[in-house]
Amino acid sequence: MFETLKPRPADSILTLMQTFKDDPRPNKLDLGVGVYKDATGLTPVMRAVKAAEKTLWETQDTKVYTGLAGDPAFSDAMIALVLDGAVPRDNVAAVATPGGTGAVRQAFELVRMARPEARVFVSDPTWPNHISILNYLNMDVVRYRYFDEDSRGVNFSGMMEDLADAKAGDVILLHGCCHNPTGANLNATEWKSVVDLLLKTGAVPMIDIAYQGFGDGLEEDAAATRLVASSVPECIIAASCSKNFGIYRERTGLLMAVSQHSAARKLHQETLAFLNRQNYSFPPDHGARVVTMILNDDTLRADWMAELEEVRNNMLGLRSQLARELQRLSGSDRFGYIAQHRGMFSRLGTTPEKVEEMRAKNGIYMVSDSRMNIAGLNAETVPVLAKAIIDAGI
Ligand code: LMR
Repeated sequence: MFETLKPRPADSILTLMQTFKDDPRPNKLDLGVGVYKDATGLTPVMRAVKAAEKTLWETQDTKVYTGLAGDPAFSDAMIALVLDGAVPRDNVAAVATPGGTGAVRQAFELVRMARPEARVFVSDPTWPNHISILNYLNMDVVRYRYFDEDSRGVNFSGMMEDLADAKAGDVILLHGCCHNPTGANLNATEWKSVVDLLLKTGAVPMIDIAYQGFGDGLEEDAAATRLVASSVPECIIAASCSKNFGIYRERTGLLMAVSQHSAARKLHQETLAFLNRQNYSFPPDHGARVVTMILNDDTLRADWMAELEEVRNNMLGLRSQLARELQRLSGSDRFGYIAQHRGMFSRLGTTPEKVEEMRAKNGIYMVSDSRMNIAGLNAETVPVLAKAIIDAGI
């Protein structure tokens, strides 16, 4: 039977990880996959995670199954972190999922189950795996304009024009903060206009929030998600703990289905649990338990927030340094957007050929769409990257 299998399209981000690994050059620079690295190139286990794991090792006396939705305490803690009471807890159905990607996958399945004919509007560009999963599920994808190639900001009027075409029963996928892959984000006024558009069209928003705490701060980064969730009749949220807790491989995420009526919650909760059962039964627990312990313990939480703040400020510092260095070398302000972008990524807005030229000549690895992971830099490598960008004539 396996002779019928066909090669699948390679994932651009994962392929790049392998090419980087295979490159023998000692000074190669990895600005590919979205993983935070400190100045020494290490992706550390956060202090609060280590401490919670130690306590867990000492006190956990069973590994028996949790529930199909995962531990309810995890849902409570994460709903509070993301929504902070913006909607009543009773209006939110939620299940733990294997990472943010698991939440995204389950969210799409939920949409397909509820509305097989739904169109899913995605930003152009978006995280490539959004499109890949939607294609895999045979769902209808509509791209809306998002990135302005000239300013490297958001083409907001283009976005709104395209989204005006959405109808009740369609889904609009939005990045809650730290847009991946561009780093360009909506401002508060623009988010309000998006809410108006959602109310006018009746389309259901799905918010992917994978980088809360990496942009302007934990509260600031969740503000748009809270605004949307509290304003529309129904909303889907996929949250990830991979980046802000640094627990990438533990696969920890939460899928939320928010509605304005608590009476709907029971059915939504049962449906999400059913979807978990079909796909993997019980969701992974270790990362979720660690996150719950951190969020529910004042000392651990304060330490986690402090370390997350260091991570965020480190990335902001690298952004300013890179923008300054490029200004110095180019004698122009045309790279100012790098300091304006937020989150791990910035899209340079250049061609795949120039990206390849920097890889071949300088051992600098960024995704072919010119997305670079700012966290892959440090104070010493910023000038190296800046010079390569100018040498490549970008
Ligand atoms: C990324 O965009 O690099 C991360 O979300 C990792 C991944 O799975 O693609």
